[in-house]
Amino acid sequence: EDPRLHGIKTKIRVVPHFPKSGREVLTFLGLAGIMFQDITTLLLDPKAFKDTIDLFVERYKGKNISVVAGIEARGFIFGPPIALAIGAKFVPLRKPKKLPGKVISQEYILEYGRDCLEMHVGAVEAGERAIVVDDLIATGGTLCAAMDLLERVGAEVVECACVIELPELKGRERLNGKPLYVLVEYLEV
Ligand code: PRP
Ligand code: MG
Repeated sequence: EDPRLHGIKTKIRVVPHFPKSGREVLTFLGLAGIMFQDITTLLLDPKAFKDTIDLFVERYKGKNISVVAGIEARGFIFGPPIALAIGAKFVPLRKPKKLPGKVISQEYILEYGRDCLEMHVGAVEAGERAIVVDDLIATGGTLCAAMDLLERVGAEVVECACVIELPELKGRERLNGKPLYVLVEYLEV
């Protein structure tokens, strides 16, 4: 295991029962024990934040990736520094009605309800090689919607990249065999 991963793990704060609004739903699903993974504490530590970005950059540089798609909101933190370092464009996948141009939309279901992601038409061209970046995969619904948007415009999603995976929610199984790269697994849900 890369020695940098331990430092990254220790900087992620676990907050029980947050957000409160999701608790009834989580209890209904038998997932009452899920703990919120707070990456803001990782961002406070320049060494751990840089190590996080470097690990992704080392994986994707030289792989002919021209698109880093980041998912609002926390994918906007990790995506852009990766894009700059590998020489790719950054494409924001935004929550509804935030993008001013013509968009394509993809609805999805997440832990705390229903949501939608949008991407500007023309931001990504057919045949481009893309990675999707987010902070965390839980049920995988968000990443699926992001991949759908990219594939609908003819891009190839090479891999999804997240800092944290909650493996017990089996989000990886929802990705239809698409590779998923994560730095940290959180097992004690
Ligand atoms: C969280 C997290 C991921 C998503 C993972 O985002 O940042 O994007 O949930 O869940 P899933 O794998 O079950 O789909 P959230 O939608 O809460 O919003 P935020 O990033 O804007 O805070
Ligand atoms: Mg998110």
